This record gives sequence, C-alpha cells and structure tokens, in this order.
Amino acid sequence: MNFLVAAALAVCAYVSSVHCASEPIAWCYHLPSCNDNTWPTISPQYCNGTRQSPINIVSSNSKPDASLTAFTFKNFDNTSVLKSIKNTGGTVKVTFGSGVQVSGGGLSEAYDSLQFHLHWGNGSSVPGSEHTVDGKRYPMELHIVNSKASYNGNTTQAVADSKGLAVLGFFIEEMSGTATGQPASWKTLTSYLTNIKNKDDSVSIASGISLDDLLDGVNLSRYYRYLGSLTSPACNEAVVWNVFKEPIKVSKDLIDLFSTTIHINNSSSPLMTNVFRKIQPDQPVTESAGISSRED
Ligand SMILES: *[C@@H]1O[C@H](CO)[C@@H](O)[C@H](O)[C@H]1NC(C)=O
Ligand SMILES: *[C@@H]1O[C@H](CO)[C@@H](O)[C@H](O)[C@H]1NC(C)=O
Ligand SMILES: *[C@@H]1O[C@H](CO)[C@@H](O)[C@H](O)[C@H]1NC(C)=O
Ligand SMILES: *[C@@H]1O[C@H](CO)[C@@H](O)[C@H](O)[C@H]1NC(C)=O
Ligand SMILES: *[C@@H]1O[C@H](CO)[C@@H](O)[C@H](O)[C@H]1NC(C)=O
Ligand SMILES: *[C@@H]1O[C@H](CO)[C@@H](O)[C@H](O)[C@H]1NC(C)=O
Ligand SMILES: *[C@@H]1O[C@H](CO)[C@@H](O)[C@H](O)[C@H]1NC(C)=O
Ligand SMILES: [Zn+2]
Repeated sequence: MNFLVAAALAVCAYVSSVHCASEPIAWCYHLPSCNDNTWPTISPQYCNGTRQSPINIVSSNSKPDASLTAFTFKNFDNTSVLKSIKNTGGTVKVTFGSGVQVSGGGLSEAYDSLQFHLHWGNGSSVPGSEHTVDGKRYPMELHIVNSKASYNGNTTQAVADSKGLAVLGFFIEEMSGTATGQPASWKTLTSYLTNIKNKDDSVSIASGISLDDLLDGVNLSRYYRYLGSLTSPACNEAVVWNVFKEPIKVSKDLIDLFSTTIHINNSSSPLMTNVFRKIQPDQPVTESAGISSRED
C-alpha cells in the first residue's frame, strides 16, 4: 500500500518540500532524495524494520491454515458506500462512508473498512503491483484498508498495534481479449479520473457501484496471510495482510487510464507512474486451507 493510508495516516508528500499534518516524513517514489531506497534512512523507526511490506509470496512455501476461514463482509454490496475519490499526489484513494466492515478470516475482531487506493506501473504492459507471487508482478494492486473497530477510526492507536490494521490486497490483471470499458464498475470508477488530474483534487462519487462490483470474479475465500507493514512511510508494522489469489480482471484501456491521466502535482508535473515500493525480505506466509466449512 502506498499506504497513503488510512485516513489520518499518510500520504503526504511526493516531493521533499511538502509535508502533511499527521505524517511528518517527507517521502516520494521517484526523486533521488526521497525514493524508497532512502526510506530506511529518512524513516528509520519502521521502514528499516524486520516485517516490512510488500513481499514476494512464494506459493510453495505458503502453509495451509484451517483458521483462515471465509471473511464476512458488511456493506460490500452497498452501492452508496464509495463517497469520494482523491488524487493524493502518490495514489488515487477512494474513501468510504460508515458501516463498512470485514470480520472472520481468523481476524481477532471486526475491522472498519476506511478506504481503498491503488498501486500501478506504467500502463498494463509495465506492471506495478506491490506484492508479487512467485516473482510475477501484476499490472496493478488494490488495497482496502481496515482498522480494528475497537479503535473507532483512531489510526494513531491502530498503527501502534501489531495487528491494528488489516489490508485486503487484490491484484488487477488485464482482461483477455479485445474488450474495452470492462467491467462496467471499473468503467464508472475510472470515469472520475479526469476530474482528479492534479494533486489534492477530490470529487464525490455518485451511488451505483459497490465494493463487490469492483471485486467481481474474485473468490474471496482464497487468500494468503502474513504480518507486515504499511508500504509507505512511516512503514508502521501494524498490518495483517490478506492478499487474494485470484486477480480482478480489467480491460487494458481502463488500466492504462491511471498512468495517462493522473499527475503527481499539476499538469506541468510528470504523470503518476510506478507507484509501488520494492520487494522487502520474506516473511512466513500462510494461506486459506481451501476446505469449505460446510459440506452441503
Ligand atoms: C537498518 O538496520 C540495520 C540492521 O538492523 C542496521 O545495520 C542499519 O544501520 C540500519 N539503517 C538505518 C538507516 O538505520
Ligand atoms: C449503505 O451505506 C450508506 C453509506 O455508508 C449507509 O448510510 C446506509 O445505511 C447503508 N445501507 C445499508 C442497507 O446498510
Ligand atoms: C510510460 O509509458 C509511456 C508510453 O509508453 C512513455 O512515453 C513514458 O516515458 C513512460 N514513463 C515512464 C516513467 O517510464
Ligand atoms: C487517538 O488515540 C490517541 C492515543 O490514545 C489519543 O492521544 C488521540 O487523542 C486520539 N485521537 C482522536 C482523534 O481521538
Ligand atoms: C504543485 O502545484 C501547485 C499548484 O498547481 C503549486 O502551487 C505547487 O508549488 C506545486 N508543488 C511543488 C512542490 O512544486
Ligand atoms: C506545477 O507544479 C510544478 C512542480 O510540480 C511547479 O513548479 C509549478 O509552479 C506548478 N504550476 C502552477 C501553475 O502552479
Ligand atoms: C472458492 O474457493 C473455495 C476454497 O477453495 C471453494 O471451496 C469454493 O468452491 C470456491 N468458490 C467458487 C465460487 O468457486
Ligand atoms: Zn497500498
């Protein structure tokens, strides 16, 4: 996650001269002075830690775990929860209304779903997912950020807890064939990009698309689990990662819109491309066991 994260957390600066109130560390993806090679130095407390994300998931080393049951998703089918979409200068972030939650899946309690944001490369042919699986990098990755419900949206408390956040990570792959504008939910979502070309631009999202619509086709019972971190400074080691095995399939024309529409600052600044952190050292990974809890 360009974890321009959770509400109060971070995404702050693309360039070193810019800060944001809740996150004092100035970081960026591409300038020599503040790119991800420097994060362990400019944000040593966590970015130089021992459970950093993203990682390359080695599928043959992943251990099935029967406690990784199906999740329960609340309001993922609600077509009014996507409230606004913003160019943060480091990602495109969609903020949710209240009442969206994820529980189950071996999580210790319910987590409130706050936002999703995306990571990408440079069009569908230059991949930009954060996690990789057996070395494969996908065109894009979507991160749904969730915070322990008992913290009531206080992300300061969540990032201080080694399991305070749960992130649902979804790969996005190019749909095969020559279809354009598919799926319809992604056509609707990407139609807003032209209104948020510049940093800090934000517009409301009309009701009509749900999270389930955007996650269309993914088996939500099949996922990898490991304990890691935010993928941008301060890289807090507070994340229960859930990386879904099956990708969301989106047509090439829609994937390409991200790297051809969104600027890192304004129309005279570069387009936003390659917004992902490099791979960090391995962590132990488990996976949903693939046995349905019911036989019926
Ligand atoms: C990062 O951690 C390593 C090992 O703990 C240490 O050798 C190195 O000096 C640290 N780097 C920074 C910038 O703090
Ligand atoms: C759908 O989400 C909206 C916005 O979060 C909320 O106000 C509404 O109560 C939800 N609908 C249902 C049926 O829960
Ligand atoms: C992204 O791709 C476009 C089109 O192929 C190319 O012109 C541009 O230089 C690329 N940008 C980067 C940062 O590689
Ligand atoms: C969040 O929790 C911290 C630590 O308990 C507290 O200091 C802070 O005031 C809380 N923030 C809000 C907005 O409630
Ligand atoms: C970003 O653009 C805004 C207005 O478009 C400008 O005021 C600001 O100086 C730019 N930021 C940087 C770091 O250049
Ligand atoms: C646009 O941003 C660039 C740097 O990103 C800055 O130098 C320039 O002044 C900004 N343009 C306007 C019109 O603010
Ligand atoms: C989803 O995956 C689970 C676990 O592998 C499997 O039992 C279930 O049949 C799958 N569901 C669909 C719709 O394919
Ligand atoms: Zn992210």
